[in-house]
Amino acid sequence: MILQIAAVVLSYLLGSVSFSVLIGRFMKGVDVRQHGSGNAGATNTLRVLGKGPAIMVLLLDVCKGIAAVWLGYWLGGGSQWTAALAGIAAIAGHNWPLYFHFRGGKGIATAIGVLATLCFFPALIAGIIAILSIVITRYVSLGSLIFVILTPWMILVLGYSWPLFWSSLIICVFAVWRHRSNIRKLIQGKENRLGSKGGDRL
Ligand code: G3P
Repeated sequence: MILQIAAVVLSYLLGSVSFSVLIGRFMKGVDVRQHGSGNAGATNTLRVLGKGPAIMVLLLDVCKGIAAVWLGYWLGGGSQWTAALAGIAAIAGHNWPLYFHFRGGKGIATAIGVLATLCFFPALIAGIIAILSIVITRYVSLGSLIFVILTPWMILVLGYSWPLFWSSLIICVFAVWRHRSNIRKLIQGKENRLGSKGGDRL
């Protein structure tokens, strides 16, 4: 039990490392949370700082999710529940980071790492559909929502385990909650499209 709890706590602390804030501060001397959408994530880093920093943030945030799930499997002695809870804890850390006044991101890149490690094929199918939706509409938030909403259903359809279904559903609820303002803007037709000239770029 101690090891399982340690996996969850360590994963939260790992998730709390906000790479968009760190890279923004160290590379350009800015806090991305003060610009663009105010979100500490790869999409807002792209908007504010450009492609290079955004790709770094995306990869590092995905890696946080992968590392947390591995840590959960390792300390949990192969338990799927511990791995899934560690992944959820990393996403919670990303969204509400201990080291950055609990103001973080929306958890999608970290969720990609977590879900791809826990259940590769359901995440892959949901990911392909999500990417297609982003290519067609240029709404990253819409693609993010499609990814987290579709993954639990893909898990069911492909017959994966209940711990994976329930944990992916929790991840979905976190993500939808964090995208409240995006959902409102999507409905109003005011959401930022990828590459649109919003004047946010520094
Ligand atoms: O993953 C975050 C993305 O879905 C939306 O980001 O900055 O446009 O709110 P943003």
